[in-house]
Amino acid sequence: MTAPTGPLIGDDELAALEGDVQRALAAGRQAGLAVLGYGEITLVLGWPPDVPRVACKRLPPFPDAARASRYLEVIDGYLAALRAGGVDVVPTELHALPSATRDGRVIGWAVQPILDPATLGPAVLRRAPVAETHPMLEAIAAVTAAAVGPRTGIDAQLSNWAWDGGRLRYLDVTTPFAWDADDRLLLDLDTLVAALPAPMRAVTKRFVAGEVIRKYRRARDALLDLCGNLHKERLEAWVPAAVGAANAVLGPTDTPITAAEARRYYCGDARLWAFMLAARRADASWQRRVRRRPYPFLLPGRIRR
Ligand SMILES: Nc1ncnc2c1ncn2[C@@H]1O[C@H](COP(=O)(O)OP(=O)(O)OP(=O)(O)O)[C@@H](O)[C@H]1O
Ligand SMILES: [Mg+2]
Repeated sequence: MTAPTGPLIGDDELAALEGDVQRALAAGRQAGLAVLGYGEITLVLGWPPDVPRVACKRLPPFPDAARASRYLEVIDGYLAALRAGGVDVVPTELHALPSATRDGRVIGWAVQPILDPATLGPAVLRRAPVAETHPMLEAIAAVTAAAVGPRTGIDAQLSNWAWDGGRLRYLDVTTPFAWDADDRLLLDLDTLVAALPAPMRAVTKRFVAGEVIRKYRRARDALLDLCGNLHKERLEAWVPAAVGAANAVLGPTDTPITAAEARRYYCGDARLWAFMLAARRADASWQRRVRRRPYPFLLPGRIRR
């Protein structure tokens, strides 16, 4: 039997989902949406909302069609680079639709088949008895170390992987960490920082374009991020196993990661993201209550850090 082919979702369905998003934005609530997960930037929604078949990742709105298609092309190139580097990426379909509000803006979507929630990285470790090693952590470390390089970065955090019967898959593709041959970042940071309050944009862009993004293309930094982030997931019991898996794949010139370093790293990182989210919440409430206009982004609820 051949696998079914064709699009994962039709533009008409995405337009309907966008309508739901606009209604939720107008109401300032997430009613009517099947929220599958929150990252720091994208919101991931299941479609159809009652029994989701696909995961739809809504990108920040683009000012016009050309900017949207450029961003989607960068994602496309990033998917190819990851695959060439040995990463098994969840099939991802890219769409661009005019905004329902007819303001000339364009909404980009990355759509994937929905994965069994039990196969997502954090769920896998949550139900496994804590041990000194785990094959999924070893696979994440090996795949990350092999795939990163001067033109490709990976966000190796546990929530970006699925593990199913020994098969490791990568799912977070909406922030493509891709550089060209002249070491220029291809990711459109202006569109991403548009999700932040205006006064924070320039400084965030400088900071993110500098250190924050660069770390994703160095194996040691990407894996330190994975280890540190286990604290955010309340999986700190797994830090020693993750540290061991990371150190096993690092190069001879890399200083080994320690659990204490992962903890220190996480404390700094958590403060940064908590600050960003607090600033966005304050901005959302200002826009809604004082300016009396809908805040154009959906924000995650409370995040325990
Ligand atoms: N295909 C999928 N099937 C089921 N759940 C998914 C799928 N893709 C994502 N999710 C859920 O949504 C969460 C966030 O998805 P993802 O990592 O792609 O976006 P993100 O972290 O918001 O991206 P970014 O940080 O680049 O903005 C995942 O950790 C997972 O829990
Ligand atoms: Mg993610």
